[in-house]
Amino acid sequence: MRPSLLRTASQHLRRRRDYSSSAAQPERKVAILGAAGGIGQPLALLMKLNPLVSSLSLYDIAGTPGVAADVSHINTPALVKGFMGDDQLAEALQGADVVIIPAGVPRKPGMTRDDLFKINAGIVKGLCTAIAKHCPNALVNMISNPVNSTVPIAAEVFKKAGTFDEKKLFGVTTLDVVRAKTFYAGKANVPVTGVNVPVVGGHAGITILPLFSQATPASNALSHEDLKALTKRTQDGGTEVVEAKAGKGSATLSMAYAGAVFGDACLKGLNGVPDIVECSFVQSTVTELPFFASKVRLGKNGVEEVIGLGELSAFEKEGLESLKGELMSSIEKGIKFAQES
Ligand SMILES: NC(=O)c1ccc[n+]([C@@H]2O[C@H](COP(=O)([O-])OP(=O)(O)OC[C@H]3O[C@@H](n4cnc5c(N)ncnc54)[C@H](O)[C@@H]3O)[C@@H](O)[C@H]2O)c1
Repeated sequence: MRPSLLRTASQHLRRRRDYSSSAAQPERKVAILGAAGGIGQPLALLMKLNPLVSSLSLYDIAGTPGVAADVSHINTPALVKGFMGDDQLAEALQGADVVIIPAGVPRKPGMTRDDLFKINAGIVKGLCTAIAKHCPNALVNMISNPVNSTVPIAAEVFKKAGTFDEKKLFGVTTLDVVRAKTFYAGKANVPVTGVNVPVVGGHAGITILPLFSQATPASNALSHEDLKALTKRTQDGGTEVVEAKAGKGSATLSMAYAGAVFGDACLKGLNGVPDIVECSFVQSTVTELPFFASKVRLGKNGVEEVIGLGELSAFEKEGLESLKGELMSSIEKGIKFAQES
């Protein structure tokens, strides 16, 4: 084919692709539960900026009318509505494709994620009971900590309601990936935008296992000591922020960013965009643990494939073995809470 004809054909194809993607884009409703909080507000802002969102439902026990009025003035297509209190939860959820949950209390200095357990477990249980009733087919993105327990709690609530679909329940561990990418890029001195680092396991302390041996672009500049330090910094990233905020909460802005990245990936998957892969804490057979974070391929029904761990370094293998006990007991704690309460 002549170069000019080739050019015309490829331009035509590109136009067709552009047209088909915009014509086929379905209406999507996203609900944020806990939308007036430290994470909820910037997350509401970021989801309002997402062109895949047509309706944005902001729910909290207090403060949502103000947040919704504020965010609704932004001149992007998503239609924003605020909902406040139990009476309005059903309407907030009806028709939702994706529900993002940052409701709960954050960690204060000296508090572990497990200290939060009792309060947040109750909140998550209540919200998931409502999800099972009002939008049982939605993808649920769990941000409320401790994620290692709140995801099993949600699964139990959905099982009890007869609506559980393991493809649609996600613990959001994206902040661990975001941190691992940032810290790795800084240490390896590579541009952060091109960096990828899978993070597996769970979402608290040593259960967070970044796989720097699989980081891209690979770096020869990092010693074993560097990799150990990067691993520890990724695991302690939450504490770094809690201490720096000195009593004023935990990560909110970076978490909102991470939540928005994961929410966007879920929407793209639902819309049939191919090759959407993110790490997430999901029901899993990758290890003997019933829930585990690893790379997950997202599709039209949520999880399309839970991707295996790939090859691990000796250090990572050791980390994997030592996280299993703690992760399993957090999972069991969640299941027990949901079954007994
Ligand atoms: N997954 C992660 O990586 C990650 C990172 C940081 C924080 N977190 C967790 O996210 C949660 C929220 O943190 P934050 O800093 O935004 O806290 P925050 O206290 O600022 O906000 C929490 C919001 O939840 C609301 N809320 C409480 N009970 C509710 C209910 N029953 N229904 C709806 N909303 C309710 C509160 O009114 C508040 O607006 C905490 O559990 C925190 O530990 C998770």
